[in-house]
Amino acid sequence: MDRGGIFAGDDPFALAKAWLSEAEASEPNDPNAIALATVDADGMPNTRMVLLKEIEPAAFVFYTNYTSRKGREIEASGKAAFVMHWKSLHRQIRVRGMTEREDGPIADAYYASRSLKSRLGAWASAQSQPLSSRTALVAEVAKITATHGTNPARPPFWGGIRIIPTEIEFWADGAFRLHDRFRWTLSGSDGAWMTQRLNP
Ligand SMILES: Cc1cc2nc3c(=O)[nH]c(=O)nc-3n(C[C@H](O)[C@H](O)[C@H](O)COP(=O)(O)O)c2cc1C
Repeated sequence: MDRGGIFAGDDPFALAKAWLSEAEASEPNDPNAIALATVDADGMPNTRMVLLKEIEPAAFVFYTNYTSRKGREIEASGKAAFVMHWKSLHRQIRVRGMTEREDGPIADAYYASRSLKSRLGAWASAQSQPLSSRTALVAEVAKITATHGTNPARPPFWGGIRIIPTEIEFWADGAFRLHDRFRWTLSGSDGAWMTQRLNP
């Protein structure tokens, strides 16, 4: 396999981390933004941006409201996919995988690290539900502030989703649309990663 240069290495998670840290130096904002795809019960896809908060040794983690549309779709299907694209680097990473909740101490620690306003906002927003007015949301934040004080616990309906990939593709722009693509696939039997170069 002629995989070298920016694609070198045996660990796709380490490679994703390396690309993300390069993007942190060159993107104007949110280098960790990912377009997250889910499907509803009819197989109709849905996408939206979220922020990737952690690249673990074998998983990717973001945070959200479990009762949101994405939360419910992930809960029902147990699957998700995402793409991260960096215009400044002319590169993308695509991930598909199985999901699980991260709603233990790691989620508590991440919630506690957020600003107080964000922590209260997580309590106040019934994410993805209809909202009568902005005023109603501001009133809800005021109510939550009065009842939850300055050290709110993580809401039980809010936490992390861990995506445990079965496929990861690294893509880099090449001259005349002859891009480089390498797909890493988890081989069923022994949990080892297989890599293949793909046509652009
Ligand atoms: C750059 C960016 C980052 C975002 N990050 C998050 C996030 O980390 N978690 C989240 O729940 N929503 C995030 N959002 C809002 C989502 O895109 C979306 O509006 C919301 O989660 C509701 O989606 P849903 O109704 O499909 O569940 C972000 C939006 C943008 C544009």
